[in-house]
Amino acid sequence: MKRRDFLLTGLGVTAGVTAVSFAPYAMSQMMGRRRNYQPSFSLQNFAVPALDEGTAIDGKQVFKLALQSGESRILPNTSTATIGINQNFLAPVLRFKKNQTVRMEVSNKLNEAAALHWHGMILPASQDGGPHQAIKPGDTWVAEWKVLNEPATYFYHSHTHNHTAEQVWRGLGGQMQIVDEDRDQELGIPHQYGVDDFPVIITDRSFTESGAFQYSNSGMQRMQGMHGNVILVNGIANSVLKPEKSLIRLRLHNASNARFYHLHFSDNRPFQLVATDGGILAQAQPLNDIRLAPAERADIIVDVSDGKSLSLRNKKGYGNLNRGMMGMMGGGSGLDSDFDLFHIDASKASKVAGFKTTQLVSFPDWTNVDIAATRQLQLEMQMGPAMMFGSGGFTINKKGYDLNVINEVAKANTFEIWELNNPSVTHHPIHVHNTQFRIIDRNGRLPYIWERGLKDTVTVSADEKVRILVPTGPYKDAKMPYMYHCHILEHEDAGMMGQFTVT
Ligand code: C2O
Ligand code: CU
Ligand code: CU
Repeated sequence: MKRRDFLLTGLGVTAGVTAVSFAPYAMSQMMGRRRNYQPSFSLQNFAVPALDEGTAIDGKQVFKLALQSGESRILPNTSTATIGINQNFLAPVLRFKKNQTVRMEVSNKLNEAAALHWHGMILPASQDGGPHQAIKPGDTWVAEWKVLNEPATYFYHSHTHNHTAEQVWRGLGGQMQIVDEDRDQELGIPHQYGVDDFPVIITDRSFTESGAFQYSNSGMQRMQGMHGNVILVNGIANSVLKPEKSLIRLRLHNASNARFYHLHFSDNRPFQLVATDGGILAQAQPLNDIRLAPAERADIIVDVSDGKSLSLRNKKGYGNLNRGMMGMMGGGSGLDSDFDLFHIDASKASKVAGFKTTQLVSFPDWTNVDIAATRQLQLEMQMGPAMMFGSGGFTINKKGYDLNVINEVAKANTFEIWELNNPSVTHHPIHVHNTQFRIIDRNGRLPYIWERGLKDTVTVSADEKVRILVPTGPYKDAKMPYMYHCHILEHEDAGMMGQFTVT
């Protein structure tokens, strides 16, 4: 046994890992010391995903979505077996409007069951696309709802019982946008898709030398969540955006399984945050950097009228790659670093007026609403071999996810306070279905400046207690539940998920 392995075994025991003798293979698995194929990419053009605005039929916006598999060119010299929605890898951007009724016709052309969830939407539980709405191979499932959500950037992705993480990794996920172009026009917010308004869907992936995706959800990859060493934006690596206009909106969207990003521009230029997960902000927020946990979105406006080249960069140190015991064990994996996500070459951008509006929309005041219930959620990782190598080990209030158990019951059209406590050693981005909530406080302090808007996902860092104010929404269904869970998808699949009904 190498000295390092010996030290780490010792450390594991003192940190509370049940004493088991790890075989060297298991040990290297656990330490995340798998060999990463490191492809090199020449500069490519920024990818703008296909746009699907649906078809108006009988007063509904109808979207036809096929879950399919195929081969995709992600690496320079080989192709990768992938899955996607109406395309081989990832998905078109779905764009629709508030108050429309959307009808999603989802046909499963894969040879495995899959569920497709509309992340962030307020909708009946039966239309939510969670684990209870799995679509068998060959079947079509139809989801319909009236769009009550505010204009913002949303997410749709696989939510298949026990297989969410791996299906998302292979490609079952995309962006949804609720738009109000007239209001954007009035406020001076760029809104022309692919012209001055760009999705920035961020994922990380790993590959084998032969081009296949490399994926694992056991050992270290289970504890930290699966991280990749290749960063993709809209499905491609090392791309350069050459905008036509000097004022651009980027819909930053962390669609990664587990990686947290701390984003800033290479020249540290300021940008304006205009929307969080579930809506535009009351006031534009000038920032130089922003942090996004898995599933979080942020719309930002960047002024590139100086014509300079820049990159969107990640600053290392945020997320679970360097947490506590894992940090020491996995620190050598090299997966946590500073890197560029994509580049911007603004030399050809025509100058348009900068963004001046600071006052955007007015929010309903929730400061004095009646609180119908207060709930406590304890986020736990059971430290032991079951967690490392078994199928569970992640719990909320000591219970792992069970399809047949309703953990919480809420009353429709009320507000609740949910207290999210994280006594575990890693961060957990907690997502609640069917709501856009506000963050009340973090350990009694104000939420971060970039999360003071409508949210559906909130990071609860190790040792933090975060309180959120949750509207329960208008839809009642005594039987069909909604989910709440950690959006590190490996944690979700390993049990850190619960179910609530609204009655
Ligand atoms: Cu983004 Cu329960 O999902
Ligand atoms: Cu969701
Ligand atoms: Cu988690």
